[in-house]
Amino acid sequence: MRRIAVMQAKGGSGKTTTALCLAVGMARRGLRTLLVDADSQGNASLTMLDGRPADPPTLGNVLLGQVDAVDAVRPTRIEGLDLMPADARLADAALLLADQIGREHRFRRALDPIEDDYDALVVDCPPQLSLVTVNVLAGVGEVVVPVDAGIYAVSGLGQLNQAVADVREYLGNKSLRVAGLVLTRTHANRATRDIGEQLRAAYGPLVYSASIPHSVKVEEAHARNLTVLEFAPTSAPARAYLELLSEVLGDGDQQRTGNPGAPLGPDAADRPDAGPGRRPGRARGGRRAG
Ligand SMILES: Nc1ncnc2c1ncn2[C@@H]1O[C@H](COP(=O)(O)OP(=O)(O)OP(=O)(O)O)[C@@H](O)[C@H]1O
Ligand SMILES: [Mg+2]
Repeated sequence: MRRIAVMQAKGGSGKTTTALCLAVGMARRGLRTLLVDADSQGNASLTMLDGRPADPPTLGNVLLGQVDAVDAVRPTRIEGLDLMPADARLADAALLLADQIGREHRFRRALDPIEDDYDALVVDCPPQLSLVTVNVLAGVGEVVVPVDAGIYAVSGLGQLNQAVADVREYLGNKSLRVAGLVLTRTHANRATRDIGEQLRAAYGPLVYSASIPHSVKVEEAHARNLTVLEFAPTSAPARAYLELLSEVLGDGDQQRTGNPGAPLGPDAADRPDAGPGRRPGRARGGRRAG
């Protein structure tokens, strides 16, 4: 099972939109996909539950060991896509979890029994780095990082980089890597170009070629509790998310899938454990087409 977390320490950067589109896109490609909502805001859950609040059990019950993962999973309107939802109770569960033995490994352990039931796991993370996100990082293989072109985009990345490095070092998840960064809510203007150039200068080939344009279609879709892939499949953001999906899945790009462990960060190429392939810094200043 391919295990992907969509994570960024910055709020409103397009994490949920990205997680939803990746998960729906994967299921439509025939991959048995599990979307886990790890955010107590429950936005991904609401979208996939047609606007209805999630009935228990949810991720919080799984983390506390109250139910098995399989019992907290339900099908969605998308064939091949299941959901493990979250709601505000996840915040309470996280508080209780803090006192439990093995508190950082609960998510990873919970997934073991369902490993063979799915081809892909996509986790929508909250904007804060917390015990819940540490659980997610300990249980996934890679992180996709949405970067909003409109806000102080690069500022959340250092914190995330540190968390990835710490989980590799202290929680034994040596294969954890940042798969890539995707620019979201882009505009055809100078500000977007500047942010894109800054990101590529700092992170080189870790930046996906696909970027997601700002479009009211995304907001209209969410207002109807739909993903933009369902609501406006031919819109620019929907097409961009399918391009991103191709890159994430490594269609026709050996390099993107062949990097076993580069952490995120401009200094990462200097680390002794940095993997070969898309090392940040190697292509400093280089730009990819698109
Ligand atoms: N490409 C886009 N164009 C226009 N609006 C967008 C786009 N992507 C996301 N949005 C809107 O921006 C807001 C934030 O997006 P989203 O919920 O995906 O971010 P997030 O990182 O998950 O936020 P949070 O940190 O609160 O979990 C939402 O209202 C969403 O509808
Ligand atoms: Mg979100």
